[in-house]
Amino acid sequence: MSDEKKSALSIDERDDGVAILWMDVPGESMNTLKEDFAQEFAEAFAHLETNANVKAVVFASGKKGSFIAGANIDMLARAKSAAEASELSRQGQKAMDRIEAFPKPVVAAIDGACLGGGLEVALACHGRVASSSRKTKLGLPESQLGLLPGAGGTQRCPELIGVQAALDLMLTGKQVDARKAKKLGLVDEVVPSAIVVEVAAKHAKKYAEEGVPKREVGLLEQLQDSSELTELALTKNPLGRKVLFDQARKKLHEKTRGNYPAQDRILDVVKIGLEKGRAAGLEAEATHFGELVMSPESAALRSIYFATQAMKKDSGVDDPEVKPREVSHVGMLGAGLMGAGIAYVTTALAKTPVRLKDRDADGVLSGLQYVRGIIDKRVQRKKMTPMDADELMLQTTGTVDYSGFHRCEVVIEAVFEDLELKRKMVKEVEAAGPEDVIFASNTSSLPIGEIAEASMHPETVIGMHYFSPVHKMPLLEIIVTEKTADWVTATCVELGKKQGKTVIVVGDGPGFYTTRILAPLMNEAAHILAEGAPIEEIDEAMLDFGFPVGPIKLTDEVGIDVGAKVGKVMQKAFGDRMTPPAGMEKLVADDRKGRKNGRGFYLYGDKKKGVDESVYGVLGVKPKPGALSAEEIAWRCTLQMVNEACLCFGQGILRSARDGDIGAIFGLGFPPFRGGPFRFVDAVGAREVVRKLQNFEKRVGPRFAPAPILLAMAEKNLTFHGENTVTPGEIPT
Ligand SMILES: NC(=O)c1ccc[n+]([C@@H]2O[C@H](COP(=O)([O-])OP(=O)(O)OC[C@H]3O[C@@H](n4cnc5c(N)ncnc54)[C@H](O)[C@@H]3O)[C@@H](O)[C@H]2O)c1
Repeated sequence: MSDEKKSALSIDERDDGVAILWMDVPGESMNTLKEDFAQEFAEAFAHLETNANVKAVVFASGKKGSFIAGANIDMLARAKSAAEASELSRQGQKAMDRIEAFPKPVVAAIDGACLGGGLEVALACHGRVASSSRKTKLGLPESQLGLLPGAGGTQRCPELIGVQAALDLMLTGKQVDARKAKKLGLVDEVVPSAIVVEVAAKHAKKYAEEGVPKREVGLLEQLQDSSELTELALTKNPLGRKVLFDQARKKLHEKTRGNYPAQDRILDVVKIGLEKGRAAGLEAEATHFGELVMSPESAALRSIYFATQAMKKDSGVDDPEVKPREVSHVGMLGAGLMGAGIAYVTTALAKTPVRLKDRDADGVLSGLQYVRGIIDKRVQRKKMTPMDADELMLQTTGTVDYSGFHRCEVVIEAVFEDLELKRKMVKEVEAAGPEDVIFASNTSSLPIGEIAEASMHPETVIGMHYFSPVHKMPLLEIIVTEKTADWVTATCVELGKKQGKTVIVVGDGPGFYTTRILAPLMNEAAHILAEGAPIEEIDEAMLDFGFPVGPIKLTDEVGIDVGAKVGKVMQKAFGDRMTPPAGMEKLVADDRKGRKNGRGFYLYGDKKKGVDESVYGVLGVKPKPGALSAEEIAWRCTLQMVNEACLCFGQGILRSARDGDIGAIFGLGFPPFRGGPFRFVDAVGAREVVRKLQNFEKRVGPRFAPAPILLAMAEKNLTFHGENTVTPGEIPT
């Protein structure tokens, strides 16, 4: 092979006839597959084939704790047509065919991430041994990027583990640990990391001596349990296959509503392979891979991936000289839903001990129980040992006074949403904490600047806005005032990342960014309801558009009372465009708080699920099915959010369109396949967005007046992403 140092592959020939083929991409922390490896692979396998001393091969990673994390997706952007992208898939297929057809047995030694193209390599090998390490994860996550496994995975995976299990992996993109992979039949044996290469060598040697065992699962084995029996019944005859694929598609569409073409193509391609054989399956795989690479859905999903990768490296401030300070202890005020959730991510993920304070012992206790509940679930799911769980629990200590706060460099407050209370907290923390203590508020709507007015050094006051439930929601919105010091921002961004969050930094103001853009969408849904559109029609229209939950259902989840309170703050700040329709206050007066008290727009408890029809009477509305088309409902609600996002951008609340897209997707469920509000504007075109807004402005009301930046963009043909772009806080003249 060429220059050893620059090569991603190297070979260790052992005396026992087993050669270890190491993959170690130079200069990268993880192995990913790139186009230009084809030549290296070909050379390495040619060498292994001709070398008579080599009887068997182990394919292993030179990166400790990471096998192959997938194919490098940068190369997809270079493909100019579906045909070019299909060609990339065919090259990958050929490389995998070469491994599968290799005359000497090849066994994959998997330690760490084995995902996408990485798993396709492993599937092409003649055997697979995985390590029991926590880092070992196997999966085919291509569909999350709007793609399908393009190097034979759609064919080999079902062949190895059965159609149903393979579809589950590919359609969801889920990752499984080694134990589960063994159960599925994805790997042959699970051993500790330290011996994974050695055991793989043993398997390879055995295969060389005795032949590779035939993997076609025998009838007896297939009948071992009922799922295999179902598999057999469903896949081996045409009628059964039809049932299986029809059911899978129906289930899929219930979730995706047809908005995610990759999942549909995966079903198509697996079905073709099953009915017409491997060659036809591979051809369909390459063709659809090419088409998907060119699809707007994949472009949007890949943009999210690139954005989150870039955000991992973003310190949150523009000055590269500013470094985050070390945080050895975090103080947490308020042990309610949010406080306890934040305590969990701080101890479990950021590995930083937390001092959790509430008003009284009962408050502290319920917070600690909440943390324990999350940890216990992880133990139940075997994600954590009971011993580790006990140790983790010790990292959160409770208190009803400020003892221990002198050590906390950062104090996060999540007490009640009350400005005076929060100001009191600032004063108390500054008295109890170290000199430069950072005071971070988790308020969902109060301007941080108003909280900071109580501070002796407002440069240390910042907002850290988490989303509920904290341990599940990926976004953290950090709010900086004009006075917040850069080191404070950088320190909180770093802490947030360690807590596992994707962090956006936004400017201060009522509702910041996320609450501010959600409010007009929810308000529009209320207007549409007041115009007579039935509740289910509103929620269904938004689900069809791609939101994970409809706005009326969301109001029930958030709490009608909470929504009304936030609505008032927004109305006060932004005036008419956020004024709710008349009658909404009657819901609160009727003691309808939503899910939490079982009285809302929908029915809860034992009563059958569905809309609580009595709500129309309270609102004084007569529902008129079909009064508004689904398209009008979806556009009006979405445009309200998008236009507000554009106002935020024009006013400099956001640092970039990227942050605005990610904030809306990760915090509010903006449809990921649309790429976020700003990519949505780019895709539709600023001119068309303005035209639609102005139509609604004439027909519905002045709240649809287009944001000034949109008008400027429409006139000058500018976009938020790409080449001729706009800058946050500047309206082009
Ligand atoms: N719940 C959400 O979805 C959500 C989302 C984002 C932000 N927030 C914000 O987070 C904050 C807390 O919300 P929550 O839902 O956790 O409320 P919660 O009512 O569950 O918890 C508040 C906790 O603060 C405690 N507390 C009150 N005064 C205190 C004091 N002086 N010292 C110490 N503890 C005190 C209470 O005893 C209670 O345990 C609010 O500002 C809210 O707006 C909530």
